[in-house]
Amino acid sequence: MPNNDLAIVILAAGKGTRLKSSLAKVLHRAGGRALVEHVLRACAPLGARTTVVVVGHQAEQVTSVAVPLGAETVLQQPQHGTGHAMQVARRALGRTKFAIVLPGDAPLVRTTTLKAMISAHRVGDAAATILTAVLADPSGYGRVVRKSQTTVAAIVEESQLTDEQRDINEINSSIYCFTLEKLWPALAQIKPTNAHRELYLTDAIAVLAGKGETVLAQVVGDAREALGCNTRADLADVDRTFREWKRDSLMDEGVTIQLPESVLIDPDVTAREDTVIEPGVQLLGKTKIGARCTIRTGSVLSDAILGDDVTVEPHCVVAQSRLDDGVIIGPFARLRPDNHLKAGARIGNFVELKKSTVGEGTKAMHLSYLGDAKIGSKTNIGAGTITCNYDGFHKYPTNVGNKVFIGSDTTLVAPVRVGDGSYVAAGSTITENVPADGLGIARGRQANKPGWAAKKRRELAAAGKPKKKRSSRKLRRAAKKRK
Ligand code: UD1
Ligand code: MG
Repeated sequence: MPNNDLAIVILAAGKGTRLKSSLAKVLHRAGGRALVEHVLRACAPLGARTTVVVVGHQAEQVTSVAVPLGAETVLQQPQHGTGHAMQVARRALGRTKFAIVLPGDAPLVRTTTLKAMISAHRVGDAAATILTAVLADPSGYGRVVRKSQTTVAAIVEESQLTDEQRDINEINSSIYCFTLEKLWPALAQIKPTNAHRELYLTDAIAVLAGKGETVLAQVVGDAREALGCNTRADLADVDRTFREWKRDSLMDEGVTIQLPESVLIDPDVTAREDTVIEPGVQLLGKTKIGARCTIRTGSVLSDAILGDDVTVEPHCVVAQSRLDDGVIIGPFARLRPDNHLKAGARIGNFVELKKSTVGEGTKAMHLSYLGDAKIGSKTNIGAGTITCNYDGFHKYPTNVGNKVFIGSDTTLVAPVRVGDGSYVAAGSTITENVPADGLGIARGRQANKPGWAAKKRRELAAAGKPKKKRSSRKLRRAAKKRK
């Protein structure tokens, strides 16, 4: 469908008083994105001629989200209501025939729903088409007063409802399609006759209907698409729905998610077939997971790239790191940014990595810190190995070759190199390079003193021996004698 005659207008100037926040409403996040970003993304595939975002509160920040997504912005300052916001957008729309108007705070709307609304509007030759929804609890929303089965007489805001209208459960989503040459004269007629003294776009509907123009209502199939975010509770509801949709789409692609409602996944995350995600996992940012991986309970992955057959044991934290095929990490591993774990590498419990490369099949299984380290393949990093990469001013690299054995409790004082095939003795503090196939040992020499402990015990026992107490009978006899 060519949409050269179509513009998109997103109303995003409001503060969002009911959120009680210093952040403008449309910048609040749900489902891993700012609200206004969701709306822009839903509109992008429509191929409209122009997309205009009306900005006001925190205009600069909202603009910096909107412009990279192909929109232009117009400033509404001050904000005198949704009708006024539309008047402000008028100049940017030029002579475009139709406009889809959306609030920046209703982020769940889908592209297919918008497409259906445009077709209904075109086919019905309407002046306005309103996307409506039927809600069990319509409170807080403008209600749709029907003229006939298919047409609308008015939208009445919550604050202006009569008692009978209060029972209407068809609500205005605030998403509309307008034929602009009909909207502008109607908008010119509306008045700020409400408690907030604002111009309500919703009032233009009654004006159009009163003139005998066709105003259609398109009822959305999934009512959640119409949900707006005026309060923190609304944000939580909308977030829940986004997360559910994301999990459902991954499950459709062959991913197992256990106790799905406990798993939080950002929109750009991908995972391939037969991967298993256990309860309480968070997959954030641009995390990409291969096939047959297991992400066990309590792990948090952000911007992580996992190959196939990777296991993340419980309670790992992984940021901006690459884990190649067959890698196993955790439980309780922490990967700070910029690590690359090559195929078959194993990172165990209480191991922290930062900016490090771990070669194929290399193991660091217990209680270590590896920072700014390049470690070759098939190397064993003993328990308690620490790279001392920082001198308080600069960071220095540690290089460990292939097939190296680093004994437990080694400190590697960087910059330092440990050559291929070498050994480092347990408990060493390595400050100089270790040559290939050599042994680095840097610790005090052990001295054994035979019999020392037994002698010590005897001495201690003798010194601490208490004097023997006399029995009470002996004490009485001694007292008698003294008399
Ligand atoms: C609006 C509708 C209501 C509908 C509901 C659906 C009006 C008068 N009411 O109410 O019928 O059921 O949405 O969610 O339109 N905005 C501006 N400039 C302004 C005022 C608002 O750009 O001067 C923007 C806001 O940033 C927001 C959108 O317009 O993104 C809607 O405003 P909001 O205050 O959320 O309206 P609701 O009370 O939700
Ligand atoms: Mg709203």
